Amino acid sequence: MEADRLNSPSTSVITFEVLGHQLQFSQDPNSKHLGTTVWDTSMVFAKFLEKNCRKGRFCPSKLKGKRVIELGAGCGVAGFGMALLGCDVVSTDQIEVVPLLRRNVERNTSWIMQMNSNADSFGSIKVAELDWGNEDHIKAVAPPFDYIIGTDVVYAEHLVEPLLQTIIALSGPKTTIMLGHEIRSTSVHEQMLQTWKNFFDVKIVPKAKMDSKYQHPSIQLFIMGLKPPVVTAENAISTEKPENVARGIDEVEVEPSKTDQDKEHDHGSNSLVDDLPSTRLPDGKLSEWEARRYGSMAARLLREVKIT
Ligand SMILES: C[S@@+](CC[C@H](N)C(=O)[O-])C[C@H]1O[C@@H](n2cnc3c(N)ncnc32)[C@H](O)[C@@H]1O
Repeated sequence: MEADRLNSPSTSVITFEVLGHQLQFSQDPNSKHLGTTVWDTSMVFAKFLEKNCRKGRFCPSKLKGKRVIELGAGCGVAGFGMALLGCDVVSTDQIEVVPLLRRNVERNTSWIMQMNSNADSFGSIKVAELDWGNEDHIKAVAPPFDYIIGTDVVYAEHLVEPLLQTIIALSGPKTTIMLGHEIRSTSVHEQMLQTWKNFFDVKIVPKAKMDSKYQHPSIQLFIMGLKPPVVTAENAISTEKPENVARGIDEVEVEPSKTDQDKEHDHGSNSLVDDLPSTRLPDGKLSEWEARRYGSMAARLLREVKIT
């Protein structure tokens, strides 16, 4: 397992090259919080943008000035992908994560502005506290947004509903939602997907559209739009399924979400690791730090990423 990892317990800075920029993200190996680590899906997401930014909806001319909010941003990698393509990004997380997130945002923004001749295409990125479901936090960021993004934000079942309610509260009729997810638990994945399908038109990005190195069978990217009629925060928890009306979210060719049979084929139980909190190393000992990273199967594909 060691050799498969992107991070090590002593890793405090990840250097990540994306869209022609050499970014550096500080981590806090001593923190107990999940948000103080760069998670693999965030890099898969940023590299997906890089691969698809020459034409179509992700080219800088289309994205310039678009308002983006990143939920559960952690170290802020995915938001930087959007900001580098010209978007004005609000990168959000829980209060405990905000200081490190702010440090990463300030450091990389100043690096981009100082060192790169093509800084013109950079939009902006700012940091805000946003605890999912907190109405004051939601109001303070001034919704609706053009894009709502998040990577690796659903790792336990209890997160599905507050995240859904927050996404709905931040959305308008034209909002596009882009989420990345690494499958670690079939039950969390199933609940998440069923909830998304009830409220959104869900498209899964095919692997061929992802960067050839920054992808993994366990990592999925979703591009979604709210199904009209617009669902409000008040009725978001209703189990009733809204009317299914297709929306125009197809500029990047994406796959419709799959049948259960397809999913079985793509993500058979052998390809999944267990739910993060219950994961154990063979000798049964697992430090806090190890527990947080053990699920990152995708790290084996990302091991060439330079770590300083
Ligand atoms: C596994 S980390 C992923 C971090 C980052 N998106 C990445 O991919 O590197 C999950 C993130 O979700 C955030 N999160 C979890 N529950 C949250 C909540 N209720 N409100 C806001 N953020 C939350 C955590 O603080 C953490 O940053």
